[in-house]
Amino acid sequence: PAISAVIPAAGVGQRMQADKPKQYLRLHGKTILEHSIKPLFMLDAVKHLYLALSPDDPYFSATGLTDERLIRVDGGAERVNSVLNALQHIDATETPWVLVHDAARPLVRREDIELLITRCMAVGHGGILATPVRDTMKRGSQLVQHTVDRQQLWHALTPQFFPTALLRDCITRALAAGVTITDEASAIEWANEPVLLVEGHSDNLKITRPADLQLAAFYLEQNR
Ligand code: C5P
Repeated sequence: PAISAVIPAAGVGQRMQADKPKQYLRLHGKTILEHSIKPLFMLDAVKHLYLALSPDDPYFSATGLTDERLIRVDGGAERVNSVLNALQHIDATETPWVLVHDAARPLVRREDIELLITRCMAVGHGGILATPVRDTMKRGSQLVQHTVDRQQLWHALTPQFFPTALLRDCITRALAAGVTITDEASAIEWANEPVLLVEGHSDNLKITRPADLQLAAFYLEQNR
């Protein structure tokens, strides 16, 4: 299918305690943003990449990222607002499908993205990359209320892949209804539309805290 990619990259990355947003920290000589975008660029089906940046972002121009498929758009207050703003720029007739991928996930593999697309095309609806939870899961605040059955628990990763018009519509309606949306799938689920779980590699981590950068560097050095 013809696909647009959306890369929300307008966050400030407070938990990283760094001097700049985490997507601009360097990993093996390149910014995290460049690592995260690269596998999307490699896919011929991806016709346009909409990069949501803070309107006063002073770092992007220094990355040297230029490509005729790259379109810069303004980010919003929360991740979901950044994604929605990018979606509003997309012509859903030209690219009926959209891949949304966090700028802070530099380790995603091209093969996982291709698997996600293939599996979704086979069932005819959207889906997400995910990995099964490994630890025993507890619910509670001070004391454990109970152990949650982890058989059916997954970590939601990105990319997430959906029909462009459906995703735009579901996010718009879910936001209007006051629903908290932390990933694209939450808006689709809210509208009772199906979301396929596609198991991806668990090293597709989101850079969040300082130690994640070291872990990502380690994974990159492995012959993955
Ligand atoms: O902060 P968090 O790790 O959840 O951010 C996930 C992704 O969403 C990051 O790539 C970040 O730059 C992006 N984001 C955004 N607009 C915001 C907040 C986060 O594009 N307002």
